[in-house]
Amino acid sequence: MTARPVPEDLLTANGLRRAFVDFFVANGHHHEASGSLLPHDPTLLFTVAGMVPFKPYFVGEQPAPWPRAVTVQKCLRAGGKHNDLDEVGRTLRHLTFFEMMGNFSFGDYFKSEACAFAWEFVTDHLGLDPERLWVTVHVSDAEAEAIWRDEVGVPAERIQRLDEDNYWRMADTGPCGPCSEIFWDKGPDFGDDGGPAHGGDERFIEIWNLVFMQFEQHEGGSMTPLPAPSIDTGAGLERILSVLGGVDSVWETDEFTRLLARIGEISGVSHGSDDRTDVSQRILADHARSSTFLISDGAFPSNEDRGYVLRRIVRRAIRHAWLLGVEDQIMPQLVDSVVEIMGPDYPELVRNHAFIRDVLDREELRFRETLRVGLSILDDALDDLADGERLTGDVAFKLHDTYGFPLELTEEITAERSVEVDLDGFRTAMADQQQRARSARKDVAASAVAEDLRAVLEA
Ligand code: ALA
Repeated sequence: MTARPVPEDLLTANGLRRAFVDFFVANGHHHEASGSLLPHDPTLLFTVAGMVPFKPYFVGEQPAPWPRAVTVQKCLRAGGKHNDLDEVGRTLRHLTFFEMMGNFSFGDYFKSEACAFAWEFVTDHLGLDPERLWVTVHVSDAEAEAIWRDEVGVPAERIQRLDEDNYWRMADTGPCGPCSEIFWDKGPDFGDDGGPAHGGDERFIEIWNLVFMQFEQHEGGSMTPLPAPSIDTGAGLERILSVLGGVDSVWETDEFTRLLARIGEISGVSHGSDDRTDVSQRILADHARSSTFLISDGAFPSNEDRGYVLRRIVRRAIRHAWLLGVEDQIMPQLVDSVVEIMGPDYPELVRNHAFIRDVLDREELRFRETLRVGLSILDDALDDLADGERLTGDVAFKLHDTYGFPLELTEEITAERSVEVDLDGFRTAMADQQQRARSARKDVAASAVAEDLRAVLEA
């Protein structure tokens, strides 16, 4: 429910992206296209927020080319400090790949203007009912509380103070500061009352975070002030779309509806028919987007760093396709859908379409060959365990080493049967293997089987 009907064009991702950018451009912001998901920043695996491409401007490494900017930034939270991988599909709102709309001030405006812009956009332009909006501020930030109450006019009883939840950091080091969040109350059907500080987190959903960037965190824990107080904001496109559409989850927004319908056609199971298959379909939809965008931005499946996270995402997607009973390759078809749906706003996808398809086609082909055997080994090992027994490190290592199962995939499958993995045993088996590899380095003749397995692991 909103204060007035939501204009039709705000119910699509494309329309919302445009409305956000237009509003801030009209308020003097430079519109910058999304930066890459792979940042030139050694402290981050992926671009986790809209501010990442602007870090040099916040910390004063480079002069900002414009005093204020607006972006719709591709983000990925699937590794490191910001990681939502395990939540995806199981909640109504978590995604690994998502779009963050944000406005930024590089030493230009500060708290008052940032709060006023956000409120005007949310209430006047999106038409959200102000009575259902809540605001949180950092425990120490009486100034922000006063701005919301006295300048913006938010009733004091809907402003709450939080501690760590209202302090935002890009990574272990880098720019940071207290923040203030705007929440939408989905209503009593979704959990307990009490506002975001005390109520249910499926009921009060964060739609916008305003970070009052003031410090730079350095290695070793020291902090220095930024050259000038600045603003970094982030509003999740998919979440806001779900609120505007009056739907329960991000999975029912326009682009996901189309992608899930396609997954339904391929798998023969329609979304919404069963909780278990819904989770698998959502994971597939999310991971199809993440892997398509990651490869488009230059990531490649491998066994290290970013490539490993990508490989893990792709293999997890394929396993869920398998659980849905999809026996033929699915990733290339999903790439086609993601490009068709999102290509109009992300032309790089259209340019890189054939390459992305090809990379995922090969990755899926290889992984499917080993998946069946690996899964049956794991199933047998799990069947043999007594109650409360852990999966041995040797079995987990064999799955990793021989069948290309990332450890996390094994852990995910065992967790579904409430079984833990002996991680120390896994590490010992891995160390033994590395020792054997070192002593055998001089052996030149490798069997054909070993070559095949290496191809799977090193693809
Ligand atoms: N950088 C802030 C966030 O990601 C806006 O929430």
